[in-house]
Amino acid sequence: MPDSAAALAPLLDTLRRAPDVEADNLSASDATDRLLLDAAAEALDTQPQARVLVIGDTHGALTLGVSELGATDVAVWQDPLVAELSLDANARRWVAAGGREPTYRHIALDPAEFAGFDLVLMQLPRSLSLLDALAGFVAAGAHPATRLVAGARVKHMDLSMTRVLERHFASVHASLARQKSRLLFAEGPRAGTATPAVQLVEQSQVDLGGSDPALVPLTICAFPGGFAGASLDIGTRVLLPHVAPAARAAVERATAQQRQARAIDLGCGTGVLAAVLARASTELEVIATDQMRTAAASTEATIAANGLAEHVAVIRDNLLDAQPDASADLVVCNPPFHVGAAVHTGIAEAMFASAARVLRPGGQLLVVFNSHLRYRPTLQRVVGPTEQLDRDAKFTVTQTTRR
Ligand SMILES: C[S@@+](CC[C@H](N)C(=O)[O-])C[C@H]1O[C@@H](n2cnc3c(N)ncnc32)[C@H](O)[C@@H]1O
Repeated sequence: MPDSAAALAPLLDTLRRAPDVEADNLSASDATDRLLLDAAAEALDTQPQARVLVIGDTHGALTLGVSELGATDVAVWQDPLVAELSLDANARRWVAAGGREPTYRHIALDPAEFAGFDLVLMQLPRSLSLLDALAGFVAAGAHPATRLVAGARVKHMDLSMTRVLERHFASVHASLARQKSRLLFAEGPRAGTATPAVQLVEQSQVDLGGSDPALVPLTICAFPGGFAGASLDIGTRVLLPHVAPAARAAVERATAQQRQARAIDLGCGTGVLAAVLARASTELEVIATDQMRTAAASTEATIAANGLAEHVAVIRDNLLDAQPDASADLVVCNPPFHVGAAVHTGIAEAMFASAARVLRPGGQLLVVFNSHLRYRPTLQRVVGPTEQLDRDAKFTVTQTTRR
């Protein structure tokens, strides 16, 4: 296998993570990207016109790397919006530095868009069910010579990933590990193994607890890979009793000012909090946002399954970038405390800052977090006066009033 990493070093060196969280222990490309690019270089050597699909590129190393290796027909599927934004920003930076203008297109979570590629490069997702869905999309629309090359850090791989790929490809073999990463080569796509997209969504009826009418059992829908699957996160459960009262208080404040109240579920996952907001008052306009394609698809399904589509708009957005300043009366949020595999508070702090911008003065932010994270001083500083509404052995719920 050629060592393309040296040829691509100038490109890989220009990559930045922004607008994704940046930190000393987080990088914009990794050893798996370099292994995948070596495999791509070899494939493009024998088939320079290959149509290439990239799945799970984190910050553009793969998409821009294959373009730099000469591929001209490149599509890329990325679940997080920040990954798309980061790829686009890195493409602009690379061209400004004199690099080759890449031609690539972003594709949606639509099986039809995964069809007809010669080479598929994949950063393996953590979720086996998401891997199963994506490999199924690829195999369903493949031709006999389509090859899928998937890689990850060895510590994040196990035999079950090979088994999943073997459902969709006749032959799967692993490379030797290099710099703690490894590749799986899948060949001989099997037709007819993909689950129809609509059947991929898992559904369950979940008891939300409490006596509030907004907390009657909810049908939760989850696309593979979605946060907490079709079940209720334990942190969300602690936040739930406070959501409907806050929603009704928001409606009262807005009604006193003779306008409609607006509430936002920031980082909506499967849309549980958005559904409870919508149930709490029909006078509330509810927006559910998440940066993941899989989350937006899950929330749309949850909202539709509970007959709430008229009251909730689902948006794929990074933080609250699409929302105007001082436009919301209530934001509810169960922020993540991981960035990829690393524990990191940067994303929660960015969420609080975006909520502070979008809330009207007097508007409220409801947050649940692991008690050890001590977000209260941050909320106090970034948003406004903060009180503790609830606390159990693991979680704290706070309510912050936008100053
Ligand atoms: C802990 S989960 C909470 C999901 C859901 N609200 C619940 O309570 O079940 C956090 C969510 O934040 C989303 N998220 C992470 N970074 C984001 C960003 N930059 N912009 C929007 N959403 C983001 C994740 O995709 C994930 O769905």
